[in-house]
Amino acid sequence: MEYLELEKLGDGLAVLHLANRIGRMNMLSASMLTELEYALGAVRNDPAIRALVFISDKEDNFLVGVDLKELERAKEPGQARDFILRIHEVFNAIGALPIPTVAAIHGPCLGGGLELALACHFRVATDDPGTTLGFPEVTLGLIPGAGGTQRLTRLIGVRKALLLMTKGTILNAAQARAIGLVDLAPYPYQLLETVRSSLPHFEKRFRKRRKNRFTLTDRVLQVAGPARSVFFANARRRIKKAAFGNYPAPVKVLECAEKGLEKGFSAGLAAEARTFDDLVLSSESRAMRRLFFSAKASRKSPYTEKARPVGLIGVLGGGLMGSGIATVSAQAGIPSLMKDRSWPGLAPGLQRIWTHFDRQIKTRMGNPVERDMLFGMVTPVVDLELFSRADLIIEAVFEEKILKRRVLQEMEALTRNDCIFASNTSAIPITEIASAAARPENVIGMHYFSPVPQMPLLEIVVTKHTADWVIGTAIATGQKQNKTVIVVRDGPGFYTTRTLMPFLHEACTLLGEGADVKEIDRVAREFGFPVGPFKLLDEIGIDVAWHIAEELHGMFSTRGFFPATGLENMTDDDCLGRKSGKGFYRYIRMPWEKRGMRIPAFKEFRPTHEGVYRYFGERKRRAVNPLEVRDRLVLLMANEAALCLQDGIIANPKDGDLGAVLGLGFPAFLGGPFGYLDRIGIQRAVTKLELLTGRFGARFTPAPILVEMAGKGKSFHGSTPA
Ligand code: NAI
Repeated sequence: MEYLELEKLGDGLAVLHLANRIGRMNMLSASMLTELEYALGAVRNDPAIRALVFISDKEDNFLVGVDLKELERAKEPGQARDFILRIHEVFNAIGALPIPTVAAIHGPCLGGGLELALACHFRVATDDPGTTLGFPEVTLGLIPGAGGTQRLTRLIGVRKALLLMTKGTILNAAQARAIGLVDLAPYPYQLLETVRSSLPHFEKRFRKRRKNRFTLTDRVLQVAGPARSVFFANARRRIKKAAFGNYPAPVKVLECAEKGLEKGFSAGLAAEARTFDDLVLSSESRAMRRLFFSAKASRKSPYTEKARPVGLIGVLGGGLMGSGIATVSAQAGIPSLMKDRSWPGLAPGLQRIWTHFDRQIKTRMGNPVERDMLFGMVTPVVDLELFSRADLIIEAVFEEKILKRRVLQEMEALTRNDCIFASNTSAIPITEIASAAARPENVIGMHYFSPVPQMPLLEIVVTKHTADWVIGTAIATGQKQNKTVIVVRDGPGFYTTRTLMPFLHEACTLLGEGADVKEIDRVAREFGFPVGPFKLLDEIGIDVAWHIAEELHGMFSTRGFFPATGLENMTDDDCLGRKSGKGFYRYIRMPWEKRGMRIPAFKEFRPTHEGVYRYFGERKRRAVNPLEVRDRLVLLMANEAALCLQDGIIANPKDGDLGAVLGLGFPAFLGGPFGYLDRIGIQRAVTKLELLTGRFGARFTPAPILVEMAGKGKSFHGSTPA
């Protein structure tokens, strides 16, 4: 067999090894199912076997889910359903075995992998950071279709199950054990031993068919129809409201779970298969799967072969970004030095790092020893002495060109010839920072996003002098820090900041025309952005946004963009957004801040800060046409992305889509700006842009690449326009 191996141990225990000999990962595929059917038949026919254990032979994965390439083959309705029905049949056969079955999990056990584990009677998962359990299907626009919506609800109760499945939450073994998803969480080296020693206990539970105990609410929801209907109606409303109905999958999870509770397990499975089939062919899921494949492809880079080891990172600036970079470096196992101008200046950054690791204890993501070890990986310093030992310096000092050039020169004087200098600037061209460098080949941009530990993207910016090994080392470091990396060419605002600015700029122009702050934000959120442009400006900081706008002004002014001077005036009046308590919205201090804690966190207080309108030309607020606003904001952004492609800033549309979705919150269900242009049709986008140019000015002039592609009837990803 190529995927599985059945081994019989002496004491009646059979072990089914998940041992894919073709690829690095264990994945559910049609061929694997065939072997599984065969192995189950052998177990059924052997009376000497009294328990069956599923275990992976791979060091770092149990079963990562359905092989997505199988799904890409589904072009017609019914094809994915047949595959799903077959999985149902095989998994049902596991559950129907007359002996206890145990999934012994080490490494990721996701999607179809967790569904196999759920089909077993018991689950034992190693208490190891690499062991993860969950249903990430909704992040691909799909549902757990291999019995997940039915079995999880019955195992841990409907409320917890729905939370996990609709959000795509991934748990570690401790968290999974706390909610009853796994029975035991031993140390990795004790996995099989623990299963063995627990067999008498499992056999007893199996004979008595003992199930997990549910809370009263969950029991009521499982059996009482009216209570269940109200619960599901509320859940559906909440989900639709949160995402404006843009993502169909989470609602479908609810529907399948409800069907199963109402009409029984088999009806639930049938609903799953039907729904899965529809979703696989949906444009949303296709777009999200394309992003998944692009992210996967981005992990393989020709540069990484040239990467050199990084044993110590020097972070300059212990502010919001610097402390975030030190945090993810510690998580990657790389020690760092974090330097700021003074000890008091370092304190808030250190507190942020501590809070981040400490919070992991509360969420069972870590223990106090791990927290202390991770925190100990960051050494705060106020002098530069130790920096001479660093392999990579990442600067995150204030966004000032002269300061950045100065710290670069200081570092060059202090460090080895093969030490990399990376800047985290969000807009200053790296070439300009490197203009005074003695070793320009060692200079690169590593543009992280805020908050660094949560944001998945790292934009690496290369100049024409940057050496290949430097690019490779930066990519490898970013990947270790668990970031999806895109490599872009240097230029004002690189890719992400350059594409974001027209969006923010247009929102300010709309204010000048009398639009309402909340209204514009709502249009953007309805389109699928997680926050609207004004909320985003408040988060970024109005002063920072104005600084970036000034930096990019040279490029944009020649294309008909006027400076959003309202931002400058707001900056002068200390109206800086969330950090000053007042921007486009108002914010109040949280109670813990009043008690003297330093973490700056303002909560939204009132919907809008009415006084803000005077910075954009006081005039009567008027209703706007949401479709026009949407086109003005989004087409301008997509057009800028196309210009970046044309200028060679990004290498291909896939990188552009990844960068916009992961860095800027462009709706994933549309697949990024290029996916969106394909979806509406490039010809249509060009026509709309031309109309907008006629009405609002030259900034809407369609990118020549779009005009050319429209003429030839081409699309970016080769799919037919809707
Ligand atoms: P921040 O103001 O929170 O932190 C900057 C820190 O640098 C301060 O703690 C300051 O004391 C320190 N500093 C200044 N001069 C220094 C020097 N010579 N040596 C050592 N430390 C020095 O700023 P933030 O938000 O962390 O931004 C830092 C950089 O990251 C900027 O270039 C910014 O454009 C960039 N960036 C910021 C993002 C954000 O959302 N805040 C996103 C992406 C990039």
